[in-house]
Amino acid sequence: MTLSRCFGTWILFSRAAVAAKGKTGNKRHYLVSYYQPIMPGIRVKPWNRVDGPIYSLATTANGKGNLNICSYVTPIAMKPKRFIIGVYKDTKTLANLEANPIGLLNYLAKDQANHITLLGKKSGHSTDKITKLGEKIEHVGDGLYMLKGAIATLRLRFMERLDCGDHWAWLAHVDSYENLRDAPPLTLDELKRLKLILA
Ligand SMILES: Cc1cc2nc3c(=O)[nH]c(=O)nc-3n(C[C@H](O)[C@H](O)[C@H](O)COP(=O)(O)O)c2cc1C
Repeated sequence: MTLSRCFGTWILFSRAAVAAKGKTGNKRHYLVSYYQPIMPGIRVKPWNRVDGPIYSLATTANGKGNLNICSYVTPIAMKPKRFIIGVYKDTKTLANLEANPIGLLNYLAKDQANHITLLGKKSGHSTDKITKLGEKIEHVGDGLYMLKGAIATLRLRFMERLDCGDHWAWLAHVDSYENLRDAPPLTLDELKRLKLILA
């Protein structure tokens, strides 16, 4: 760190900034250009710099259930309690919701990252995830499945949707919820740490 006095104020410059800019006698110039050479050096896109929760959305249609992995999930209103969920096009989840607009949102626990490969990287169009999950799921009615070990579940009724390109933004009403377990949640940062998604 380098302590410098600019415009009558003491300012702490990082060693990296000094190395990047080199020494200059012109403190005013140095200060003005301080952020510009440093900030573009952050390669991670802003929306990937903030951690967020990981869920599995259970859906069902024509007597067959399915589960995916989703992170484009946000509470959007308090009264009534509503969420918006980004649903990727061409998925089994989307086909199920179009046929039967209900779902069970599983809040995944930190120790459930082992589900990512089957639920988030394979499609119910070609893989019977319910059979593959076997004892790891429990039917909770209406053809929907809870992932054993989830920290909470929400029963959702899907309402209106907005075409957003590769995803639909789908408004869902929370019909009920259940807390199941006191455990830390699974997050994007944990998936990056486990190298299940790109950092
Ligand atoms: C970390 C992660 C986050 C994901 N987030 C979403 C999401 O928010 N919405 C979505 O529809 N798909 C999301 N996906 C992709 C689906 O889980 C994936 O396309 C899955 O294979 C769909 O399965 P399905 O065809 O059985 O529905 C995500 C996948 C991963 C690994």
